[in-house]
Amino acid sequence: METFGHFEDASREYVITRPDTPWPWINYMGTEDFFSLISNTAGGYCFCRDAKFRRILRYRYNGVPMDAGGRYYYIKDGDSVWNPGWKPCKTTLDSYECRHGMGYSRIKGCKDGLEADALFFVPIGHRCEVHRIRLTNTGSAPKRIQLYSFAEWCLWNASTDMENFQRNLSTGEVEVEGKVIYHKTEYRERRNHYAFFGVNRPFDGFDTDRETFIGMYNGFEAPQQVLSGKSGNSLAHGWSPIASHRFDIGLEPGASEEFIFVLGYVENPSDKKFVAPGVINKEAALRMMDAFAAPEQVDAAFAALKAFWDGLLGRFTLQSDVPELDRTVNIWNQYQCMITFFFSRSASYFESGIGRGMGFRDSNQDLAGIVHLIPERARQRILDIAATQFPDGGCYHQYQPLTKRGNNDIGGGFNDDPLWLIFGTVAYIRETGDFGILDERVPFDNKPGTEVSLLDHLKISFKHVTDNLGPHGLPLIGRADWNDCLNLNCFSDNPDESFQTTENKSEGSKAESLMIAGLFVAEGRDFAELLERIGDSGAALVREAVANMETAVKKHGWDGEWFLRAYDYYGNKIGSRECEEGKIFIESQGWCTMARIGADEGLCDKALDSACKLLECEHGLVLNTPAYTSYIKDYGEISSYPGGYKENAGIFCHNNPWVIIGEAMAGRADDAWRHYCKITPAFCKDQNLRKVEPYAFCQMVAGKDAAKPGEGKNSWLTGTAAWTWKAVSEALLGIKPQFDGLLIEPCIPARYGNYKIHRRFRDAEYDITIRFSGKAGSVFIPYKPGKQELEINL
Ligand code: GLC
Ligand code: GLC
Repeated sequence: METFGHFEDASREYVITRPDTPWPWINYMGTEDFFSLISNTAGGYCFCRDAKFRRILRYRYNGVPMDAGGRYYYIKDGDSVWNPGWKPCKTTLDSYECRHGMGYSRIKGCKDGLEADALFFVPIGHRCEVHRIRLTNTGSAPKRIQLYSFAEWCLWNASTDMENFQRNLSTGEVEVEGKVIYHKTEYRERRNHYAFFGVNRPFDGFDTDRETFIGMYNGFEAPQQVLSGKSGNSLAHGWSPIASHRFDIGLEPGASEEFIFVLGYVENPSDKKFVAPGVINKEAALRMMDAFAAPEQVDAAFAALKAFWDGLLGRFTLQSDVPELDRTVNIWNQYQCMITFFFSRSASYFESGIGRGMGFRDSNQDLAGIVHLIPERARQRILDIAATQFPDGGCYHQYQPLTKRGNNDIGGGFNDDPLWLIFGTVAYIRETGDFGILDERVPFDNKPGTEVSLLDHLKISFKHVTDNLGPHGLPLIGRADWNDCLNLNCFSDNPDESFQTTENKSEGSKAESLMIAGLFVAEGRDFAELLERIGDSGAALVREAVANMETAVKKHGWDGEWFLRAYDYYGNKIGSRECEEGKIFIESQGWCTMARIGADEGLCDKALDSACKLLECEHGLVLNTPAYTSYIKDYGEISSYPGGYKENAGIFCHNNPWVIIGEAMAGRADDAWRHYCKITPAFCKDQNLRKVEPYAFCQMVAGKDAAKPGEGKNSWLTGTAAWTWKAVSEALLGIKPQFDGLLIEPCIPARYGNYKIHRRFRDAEYDITIRFSGKAGSVFIPYKPGKQELEINL
């Protein structure tokens, strides 16, 4: 089968060996607030803090060809012009390799005895990308070549940058001084930030005006200056500002030259913006340039980045007999959890960095993937999220990372949202033992003076569900539950409105959700345990509400062979054998089996059997079946998708782990393992079919009703990262953090049951050897600081 690369586990890299991957295969850079996306051909962009409002490089989503815009290096060697990453010139290279590693990418191209080795990373403690370009003459004759850099500036607001040309084409401003090109559009007015692209050696020419550099009728693949071996030394005034440096280089056989480029971002205090009228204060930029002036400084910064990731990924390691499992657990799944935490759903090759801020439910779920890695940041995130809640327990569905304020454009009313705050907080406390977070004072809707304790926020979250029960005693769904597209209260005829923000007829509606019911029972139990642990008398009432909900589910939520999905506005069943389409849905099977509702009566086993029988296909479990074949106004967006895609019978990977965990809780190791392997990219053989990165989980893989089942989309930014982490680390491998220790309770096929785990847990480090025979059982390890070696035979 055709492959485009392979894993190299020792260096924690994925090595791409052909540039023409089925879709750009990207990586992320950045650990604090300066972030970049970089494809295997060096496409992509960077931003500081907010992908919409502080976009630094211009990137063309939807461009033709795909992935247009990035940091390009051009080499002119005689008549041939090429890029180390193949694009945009697409000149055939003698060899090509891209190594995507933890927070860096290294792209190497060779042609006609010249090797160009480009290392890209975002150093810790700086708001910049560092590009180290090393050119080596590997031939036997001296060479005279030229190297050009190229970056195109975005005019900060990524949205208006694509729309408001009557203004944009007149605002662009730059300065060129010393070795640095400065981008200062709008700095003259309210902005106090600028960007720059500099290099550690004097250059032989430059351009800052796109038309001068590229030419009116050329594309990125044929900049007229590069073709002619010159520079225009142009200064941009309006139009489209860019940055390009030129170097004329002589290289003897065997000789190398190294260039360090810094692409950075600076904020100045308002009273120190200028050093002379119109001349920007460059101090901070020059300091950053100085920090990377010499190769040793770059080496040290790169080593620090490696140490950062080594430290993080050293906290949980696995040694098993399954290499695909080891590389997923030790490297790529945890890495993706970090990326998802940093980026939420804002910027990927499927998310434009414009439309979506931080989701209330998404961000809470993302925490489950990183609490063991960066607990301090998880803590802050929980407090930020809680501060966007309303006094009645409802929440803004999204908030903006730049302001941390709720986003009015999307509003609220998604009735699963509040429960996720309990989910995220419990995950955090179980990992850290930091019960103190419950006493933190947190406002409502960010309004000073409204502060209550985080614990009160959790209580209000729980109460929001019991305050909003429907005719069957099940939770009212509101605008939607976890499934954004099951819109039971919106009835939209108008193609120009969004299903998520259009009129919401929830008031007086009977629409109830079995997904929220399962979530409520599972999280309610955790919440009760937490309350009991801290001696809060509210625990009894919580247990009672949970018991009532279980009764309601068994009475009104069971369809005979599986759990119903919902009742609609009129009280009709959704996800029932009585329905013609959408007879069974995954969300309620996952949540009700994780909550073990009716387990004693055999409901969980039956529901899981039905999931395997009806929802499972070659590539995973589809969301619902049969797919809806036409638009159903009463159900909304779910039926807007052609069958097999997204929420209409796609394999929505985010929810597969719910069934995996449900299977494991039922002791069904083979089923759990099989579902896990199907959605985990490291096990996927057909790279052409999967299309997206072989090292990142997708939000969605096309389901059995799609034109091309197995084709992946929406890679990287998805709750799948945290949920598969939870599924594999806790349910399959059995390392379950509790309030006072670790519970070891594996559920993996016995043939893979011998493995070792190194687990950092608070101030303890456990080396655990597990021999699991396949019989259900568990061992509790009370928390005790220090190193411990444990052998566990089950
Ligand atoms: C998207 C959203 C998430 C939602 C899911 C299902 O992934 O980010 O919030 O739960 O779709 O609709
Ligand atoms: C669409 C998508 C869904 C996503 C939502 C967020 O409805 O299908 O997955 O959560 O948009 O805006």
